Amino acid sequence: MPIVVLKDVKKSFGSLQVLHGVSFSVEKGEVVALIGASGSGKSTALRCMDRLETIDSGEIHVCGHRVDDPGLDLRKLRLDVGIVFQSYNLFPHLTIEENIVLAPRSVKKLDKAAAREIARGVLAKVGLSDKADTYPEQLSGGQQQRAAIARSLAMEPQVMLFDEVTSALDPKLTGEVLRVIEGLAASGMTMIMVTHEMGFARRIADQVVFMHKGRIHEHGSASILTEPATAELRDFVSEEL
Ligand SMILES: Nc1ncnc2c1ncn2[C@@H]1O[C@H](COP(=O)(O)OP(=O)(O)OP(=O)(O)O)[C@@H](O)[C@H]1O
Ligand SMILES: [Mg+2]
Repeated sequence: MPIVVLKDVKKSFGSLQVLHGVSFSVEKGEVVALIGASGSGKSTALRCMDRLETIDSGEIHVCGHRVDDPGLDLRKLRLDVGIVFQSYNLFPHLTIEENIVLAPRSVKKLDKAAAREIARGVLAKVGLSDKADTYPEQLSGGQQQRAAIARSLAMEPQVMLFDEVTSALDPKLTGEVLRVIEGLAASGMTMIMVTHEMGFARRIADQVVFMHKGRIHEHGSASILTEPATAELRDFVSEEL
């Protein structure tokens, strides 16, 4: 069974239907780039996978959890799924390490030493070993975003969801964050990422899902970015370059 499955997922906000039957599946270790114009439903689809939104019909399976089941144990789902947004949402009054150990301490009930060791490990992974004792405001945007990724990794998720995590960053800082994500991909992490970085998607995505008006309009390997079959994807790719 794939690690993530969406089957005919439909979702409306009031009278506005945002997802018109979205289906795709992701094998363990795969990287999926979710692309499409503003308003096409990318964030909504991603948020539904972590049950930040509920769906109207269809099925979502993530890491063996039936996400569309109203009786789902949210805590268990969130132990397996990490999500990182464009805004870093670090606590400003806590150091980077304190931000990172928070969830392992409270949710996983790890003792101080064990949580600290995990923090050290994930900070090394994102290239921030020397920033453990600094406060978020003392870091650049790219460093804060890497700290936010480290905080998510500290829970040792099976799947990572990224929603335009580099959109607020300039090109240099974007590069730093993308390198971290590329390292995660190389280490075998299953990832679904909403991104406007077409070059990056082409390089690391095993699957590209192109959404248009709440539907998957084109879906395939990264080669669909260089050889789009539809006018919509062709226009989208040329606008993003
Ligand atoms: N909580 C909400 N309430 C009402 N409408 C919403 C809500 N969230 C999203 N929408 C609407 O759903 C549609 C899809 O939004 P979504 O955020 O999924 O798009 P997106 O593809 O992520 O766009 P972007 O690239 O701008 O982030 C939009 O028309 C949006 O206005
Ligand atoms: Mg979005």
